[in-house]
Amino acid sequence: MHALHNFLLFHVLIYLGRNALGAKIINGVKVPDNLMRYMASVQDSDGHVCGGVLISNNFVLTAAHCHDDDDEDGLVRVVLGTHNLSNNGTVRDIVQRCKHPHYWDHTTGSDIMLLKLSESVPEGGTIQRIPLPPSNMNLQPNQMCHVAGWGTTEAGTGVTDLRVVGVSVVDQDVCRERWTGIPEGVICAGGYRTLKGSCHGDSGGPLVCNGMAAGVVSYGDSDCSDPGFPDVYTDVSQFRPWIGKVLRQNGC
Ligand SMILES: *[C@@H]1O[C@H](CO)[C@@H](O)[C@H](O)[C@H]1NC(C)=O
Ligand SMILES: *[C@@H]1O[C@H](CO)[C@@H](O)[C@H](O)[C@H]1NC(C)=O
Repeated sequence: MHALHNFLLFHVLIYLGRNALGAKIINGVKVPDNLMRYMASVQDSDGHVCGGVLISNNFVLTAAHCHDDDDEDGLVRVVLGTHNLSNNGTVRDIVQRCKHPHYWDHTTGSDIMLLKLSESVPEGGTIQRIPLPPSNMNLQPNQMCHVAGWGTTEAGTGVTDLRVVGVSVVDQDVCRERWTGIPEGVICAGGYRTLKGSCHGDSGGPLVCNGMAAGVVSYGDSDCSDPGFPDVYTDVSQFRPWIGKVLRQNGC
């Protein structure tokens, strides 16, 4: 029992440590209002926690580690339809949090979660959905993608405006060499031999390749600016059957 307690405490501390770093798109730019209208801010009662994307009229895709099951006051709502979190967007309560059944923590993979919204969202105008990648999507090393998020930047100050940065896909073997023991079902991109990349608080946000939600921000090095470590994303193409099932069943 004591061991379990310590284990849980350890995870809570890691979780808090992650959040303490804040969202941090490194060396990015502000996203124009007419682009990336599928972005969602996934929030607890205090505000922004993670990024996400709208993939159907009532589901948002994000990372499983964004919600701690032991935290009573976890994720409660998503905000869509605005890049500026100081403005009121379209708010929906989260009525179901569907973590992938194989998820344990970010180091073992399957770091993916679907959030069912209280009411469907009107598309068009300021809200769009993003296409999912095909299950045979094969990203090539050096291919250019983009990652977007809210929060502090390289300057270390918080932002309310969505920012984006271009990152290139890193070869899996190179990534495995740098990180001992990355899980299956991930894409590595950015953060390696460059100062451009994502940071923990960008978690849940998309790696957009060819206009599709190819990846979900999962983890990176702890200070987010070590060019020795690529950023690690959940490979959405490998979770298409599970996503399809949740959408068909309209829940989990
Ligand atoms: C975001 O919205 C707030 C409140 O409406 C406004 O003061 C601020 O200037 C906006 N930021 C940008 C970059 O437009
Ligand atoms: C957001 O909504 C609240 C409550 O409805 C309102 O008081 C506030 O003025 C709104 N803010 C903006 C920037 O529209």
